[in-house]
Parts: sequence; C-alpha cells; structure tokens
Amino acid sequence: MTFSVVGLGSRGMDSYMAFQKTHPRLMKTVAVADPRPERLKRAVEEYGVDESMCFSCADELLSQGVLSDALIIATQDRDHVPQALKAIEAGYRRILMEKPVSPSKDDCLRLLEAAQAASCEITVCHVLRYTPFYRTLKALIDSGRIGRLVNLDAVEGVGYFHMAHSFVRGNWRREDETSPMLLQKSCHDMDIIRYLVGRPCTAVSSTGSLLWFRPDNAPEGAAMRCLDGCAARDRCPFDCEKIYMSDKRSGILANPLPTWPTEVICDSYSPQAVTDALRSGPYGRCVYHCDNTVVDHQCVMLSFEGGVEATFTMTAFSRENHRTIRIFGTEGEIQGDMLDGRILLRRFDNDDEVINVSDNGSGHGGGDGQLMLDFISQETTSGLEVSLESHLMCFAAEESRLEGGRRVSLR
Ligand SMILES: NC(=O)c1ccc[n+]([C@@H]2O[C@H](COP(=O)([O-])OP(=O)(O)OC[C@H]3O[C@@H](n4cnc5c(N)ncnc54)[C@H](O)[C@@H]3O)[C@@H](O)[C@H]2O)c1
Repeated sequence: MTFSVVGLGSRGMDSYMAFQKTHPRLMKTVAVADPRPERLKRAVEEYGVDESMCFSCADELLSQGVLSDALIIATQDRDHVPQALKAIEAGYRRILMEKPVSPSKDDCLRLLEAAQAASCEITVCHVLRYTPFYRTLKALIDSGRIGRLVNLDAVEGVGYFHMAHSFVRGNWRREDETSPMLLQKSCHDMDIIRYLVGRPCTAVSSTGSLLWFRPDNAPEGAAMRCLDGCAARDRCPFDCEKIYMSDKRSGILANPLPTWPTEVICDSYSPQAVTDALRSGPYGRCVYHCDNTVVDHQCVMLSFEGGVEATFTMTAFSRENHRTIRIFGTEGEIQGDMLDGRILLRRFDNDDEVINVSDNGSGHGGGDGQLMLDFISQETTSGLEVSLESHLMCFAAEESRLEGGRRVSLR
C-alpha cells in the first residue's frame, strides 16, 4: 500500500513510517509533509521518498490531489480534523488518523458526517485494541469463562517521567493549546473499556485536578531551570538530566543516551545538542515552574447498558508508563498487567491460570505494528464512528470534573 504522511514526528515517522523498514513489501511512503527540513531529509534518505514529493506543510501536500492509496495524519491534536476534511475533499478514501480526533466535540461530529457522506474510511490510532494483551482479555470475557461481566477497574500509570516530559514541560501541557488530559492520554483507556464491556456507555462522572506540578510545591532552593544551579536537583526525580541523559534507576549518565524521550527534544541526538536543548529549551524547565494546566490525576466512574460498571484511574505518579486491570464476572475474575504481559484467570471453581502474552516488539505493547498490519489488510476495529464513543465519554467526564463530579448522561 502506498502512503502519504503528514506530520513526521514521533508518531508519523518514528512509529508508522518505521513499519516500512520492517515490512518493505507492505508499505511504501511516497509523499510527506512537515515544516522541519531535517525530517523531510530523513524521509528522502531513509525511506526513499522523492524530493519532489516532500512538502513543508500538510495543506501543500493535500492541494496536490490524491498521491497515494492511503493518508496518515500524525500532526497535533487540533490539526487532525481540518486536515482530514481537506483530505476528503482532495479525494482520499482511506485515512489513518492519530488520536484524539479533536478536542472539539462539534469538529468530531462534523468530520464523521463528512466521512460518511464521502464513504471515506477513517481509522483512529487506538493502538491498545491491536495489542495481544487486550485482545486476550476481550477473548476471555467473550468466551464466558468468568460468567457474566459485572464490573471492571482499570488504572493507567502515566509514569512520572512521561508526565514531566509530555504533560508538564512538553507538547500536551496546556489544554487550551491541545486537549484535556483524559482525552489526550486516556481516550485509549475509555476506548478499551468500551471495547471490553462490549456495550454503550450510558453515564459518566469524574473528579481530578492538577495537584503536584505547581509553583507552591517547588522544593526550597528550586531554580526556574534545572541546569541553572538548582539546589533541589539531587533529590528531585524530575531533574531534566535524570530524565533525558541518565539511567533512571542509578542516575548515572547514560552512554549511549536514552532513546525516548531524549530523541524528541532536539534534532541532533548528541550529548552536546541535548545539553544545549536542556539549557535553553522547554524541557529544561523546573516542573514546578511551567505553564502547564492539565490534571495530574483523575478518576472516572462509568455506567454501561446492562448494569455493567467500570472505574478508571489516571495518575502521573507511577514509576513506569503502565496499565493494569481487574475484571469481575459472576463466575470468576481476571487480573492483567500490560507491562509484564501477564494475565491471571481466577475462576471461582478452579485453580489460577496464568496466561503470558508476548507482543511483536513494536511500540504500545505491539499495538503500533499490528495496527499497521490490520490497516493494510483492511481489518481495523477502530473506525471513526466507534472511536468517537470514547471521545464522547471523555467530553462527558471532563464536563463532570469541571462541575465537581456531577453524573453526566450519555443517552
Ligand atoms: N496513538 C498513540 O498512542 C499516540 C501516542 C503519542 C501521540 N499520539 C498523537 O499523535 C499526534 C502527534 O504526536 P507526536 O508525538 O508524533 O508529536 P510530534 O510533535 O513528535 O510530531 C508532530 C509533527 O507534526 C509536524 N507538523 C506541525 N505542523 C504541521 C503541518 N501544518 N503540516 C505537517 N506537519 C506538521 C511537526 O513538525 C512534527 O514533526 C498527536 O495528536 C498525539 O496526540 C498518539
């Protein structure tokens, strides 16, 4: 399948185009767009894209008419819908779009209408659906091995370093520029809970706040930037050198440098370039003195048709970026830990059964690679209409949170 890709960042280039390197017979990138010249240069050198097919912005690429079988939209949250509308108008009929679709409910619905009118198939990158971990959980529930599903409890630990990088110092720190935290980070979780339950969500309530990453929690002696003589660095887990240049456990400078998130903060991946970026760029700021607004912990209660209930917790304060789940049925329970790939089935009338799931080694527990395989073979399960259910759950949860936890109906 030939692809055009708009947005050659961590997702567009490092996750989806990277699939071409491992599956050259299945994927060929023929056109790309990004304002960063060094990314375009990589598209030419590493992916064989013709220079005449490199554009400096999505609009330029989309004004050329249809250049490929499919289009990947991997730009920032607020750009997805305007670019998808232009792509539909240009004639693209297969689009792989990053989540969230949009922080605007109206834009989400406008896109759905336009896609349906044009018979354009849009797949949203809800990568968890494509992981062996969640597919195994879904198969276990649907097999009836724990009887009838009654409720479930899911936790997403964002990881202290991931929170600091993306949601305190980085791209998604302000909801007025991108999206609220639940929509940005945990629309995946809303989607996967909806998928596992297999029934529509009827009502949501939520509470949460920005508790920790605020100026009033700055330790004594904290500087505005870590490398500017901060007196609190030794004990601070969020110190930029610890996150971007060191081994996280030992704190010893790493050689070679860690990959993600260090590779995101500057174009040249050398110790000097990283130090320069930390000295002057956004990722060297004190986590207590940024202009972040998104919450660092949030809880959601969800009711589904048929009386099934679910609870979800998002927290910044975990050591790893990590998801766990407990699922309760009338004849047994399931416990799952995505990081370990371990699922424990505990039927009431039997011994424990341990299921170890292994993934294909691609990002998001194998979800990134499997999503590409399923997209190419037209077997994806996260179409736009289905995916928007998770977005509506997020919008309702945010409405509830801002109103002190009021229960918001989705019917
Ligand atoms: N599915 C997932 O699990 C997952 C994970 C992380 C991020 N995301 C989503 O993916 C999207 C991109 O995230 P990322 O981490 O790759 O960000 P990124 O900043 O690394 O990449 C975005 C790229 O878009 C480019 N860009 C900006 N304006 C453009 C324009 N007008 N035309 C073309 N390119 C333009 C930027 O230069 C950059 O290279 C976000 O919406 C994010 O929410 C999804």
